[in-house]
Amino acid sequence: MNLPLPDTIRPIRFRDGTLYLLDQRRLPVEARENAYTDPQAVAAAIRDMVVRGAPAIGITAAFGVVLACAAARRQQEGSWRAQVDVAMAELAASRPTAVNLFWALDRMRRILDACASADQACAASLAAAQAMLDEDIAANRRMGALGAALIAPGRAVLTHCNTGSLATGGFGTALGVIRSAWAGGRVTEVFADETRPWLQGARLTAWELVQDKIPVRLLCEGAAASLLRSGEVGWVIVGADRIAANGDTANKIGTYGLAILAREHGVDFMVAAPVSTIDFATDDGAAIPIETRPESEVLELAGQPVAARGARAWNPAFDVTPAGLITAIVTEHGVVRHPDRESLTALRRALPR
Ligand code: MRU
Repeated sequence: MNLPLPDTIRPIRFRDGTLYLLDQRRLPVEARENAYTDPQAVAAAIRDMVVRGAPAIGITAAFGVVLACAAARRQQEGSWRAQVDVAMAELAASRPTAVNLFWALDRMRRILDACASADQACAASLAAAQAMLDEDIAANRRMGALGAALIAPGRAVLTHCNTGSLATGGFGTALGVIRSAWAGGRVTEVFADETRPWLQGARLTAWELVQDKIPVRLLCEGAAASLLRSGEVGWVIVGADRIAANGDTANKIGTYGLAILAREHGVDFMVAAPVSTIDFATDDGAAIPIETRPESEVLELAGQPVAARGARAWNPAFDVTPAGLITAIVTEHGVVRHPDRESLTALRRALPR
């Protein structure tokens, strides 16, 4: 069976000097876009989770640089480049773990270095940001095909957080693999962790899968051990916010626990991420900065207190899965089975220059 590839959702658009972001805090209740013309507001949108997911954060920041160039051109005084650099520093400070943010800003910096005027910078930055968006979707399609090919038909998959169209330019990383595997008749259904505290699984992954008519069952993270013991699940498939040079992988908090459970129950564990998520400058997982988010995100649900008054919370947004627990890292440039420093270095050497 081969169904058409389901791919209808686009969270980031740029038109006539304005950036439009689908406000992910409102989903699934309402699909509403916010409009941005100010780079500072874009940095705040990333920090406040209007847009989230490593590749989507990077692409959004790139369009934030486009808006900064336009603002600098309007100013007509002082150095356009100094003004854009201030905006880039604000964008860089929005969230610390997803390396795609810094990858995207570095790429934009190199584009700006070749520009002699604000006019040039406006045109060149827009072309670069749009290319980044288009390349991301193409990379996800490729990852989808490569990852799906690893999955033996007949069982379900389990995923964590949201790694779909909403977390990228479109189609998704881990959810892209799942979309491809579903279209190819390789998965029976999708189990999705609800993903406390932001409920990316319940609100976003389930929304995407329902839109695309892919059967999805949600579970509380605490149910994952029993699910994996049941034998229903062939693969756990997740995305990544940063992969260190040795293959250790930072992803949404709870991913590490899932990887341990998968190993214990003989279930394969796949990480799907573009090469822009691999940080060869970070030696291992211990060196990955992990974002700590406000305690209120755990103590409250949709603004309502759910914890005993006086209790405090520990709220790291990500954890690190050691490379040894990962069966395969799937990138748009190939699959690395049993990732380690050596196999990732080989992937790096084989990348197009
Ligand atoms: O805090 P979030 O929602 O930005 O975290 C997102 C994740 O952890 C994703 O799994 C990761 O960014 C990969 S998205 C393709």
